[in-house]
Amino acid sequence: MYTQAMDVGPKEERKALRSAEEAQLEQRFDERIDAGGLIEAKDWMPDHYRKTLVRQISQHAHSEIVGMLPEGNWVTRAPTLKRKTILLAKIQDEAGHGLYLYSAAETLGVSRDELLAALHSGKAKYSSIFNYPTLTWADVGVIGWLVDGAAIMNQVPLTRCSYAPYARAMVRICREESFHQRQGFDALNVMMREGTPAQRDMVQDAVNRWWWPSLMMFGPPDAESVHGTQSTRWGIKRISNDDLRQKFIDATAQQADVLGVSLPDPLLKWNEARGHYDFGPIDWAEFWRVVGGHGACNQERLAARVKAWDDGAWVREAALAHARKQHTKEQAA
Ligand SMILES: [Fe+2]
Ligand SMILES: [Fe+2]
Repeated sequence: MYTQAMDVGPKEERKALRSAEEAQLEQRFDERIDAGGLIEAKDWMPDHYRKTLVRQISQHAHSEIVGMLPEGNWVTRAPTLKRKTILLAKIQDEAGHGLYLYSAAETLGVSRDELLAALHSGKAKYSSIFNYPTLTWADVGVIGWLVDGAAIMNQVPLTRCSYAPYARAMVRICREESFHQRQGFDALNVMMREGTPAQRDMVQDAVNRWWWPSLMMFGPPDAESVHGTQSTRWGIKRISNDDLRQKFIDATAQQADVLGVSLPDPLLKWNEARGHYDFGPIDWAEFWRVVGGHGACNQERLAARVKAWDDGAWVREAALAHARKQHTKEQAA
């Protein structure tokens, strides 16, 4: 009697069995996600879910590390010892965020060396906001207020992300980010209340330059978002780009009033019927230009990271040599 199994070779048979098994595993995975369950590193997951997370978490890690550069530019020029101490602590926090996130990405089976090689070759992306220059001290305050503020809006929902190691890293990161946002607001508030007219103008100028790029941090509009739908289905993304952007604008418009600065959007206006602020069109051509490598500082940022990696080679080699020596000693004892 001819059976289907006789029509296919043993290799095809194994493949068919494997895909049937995989379909079952995927169904169980989907059910777990639908029930609000968390996925741990050792759990089975679809390859596409794993790849999406590696891309997102590593981009996030790179952003934390590259994000140290614009502010690092002001450490030696901070106006007081207090501001310098706060800025140093904040930049160190960002380094820590990068390290938690590289560790979270490593749980998905990629090595830190691979992730860093992708950053250094320009293959991996980081948040485009860090390709803008920090021209005055007020930029440091505005980065804290607007850039860290937008980061918090983006990141708080990630504490409920379906991939548990990422969610856990985000809990700790979000606590520190809220300090970053407050220190930025505080630095600007002091300049606006106690500063000279020139210092107040400096704050307004920095707000004018950073406002639109910080709205772009939420990513393209939902209608054009490539990864949005699948990420939402998998419980990685909990709130859409447009909804997060609106939330950020609503919160920030009120803070701008308290601060006494104006936001550079003539169409920004409270809409009673919607219960939200209306706002003007975002220049997405600028966003794509900067993502594509043509922002003011893209080359400078990447060159700084590559140099830091190359200059640090002797530290990595020395640490490995020390670890080998310790290991040999322990074996001999
Ligand atoms: Fe951070
Ligand atoms: Fe931060």
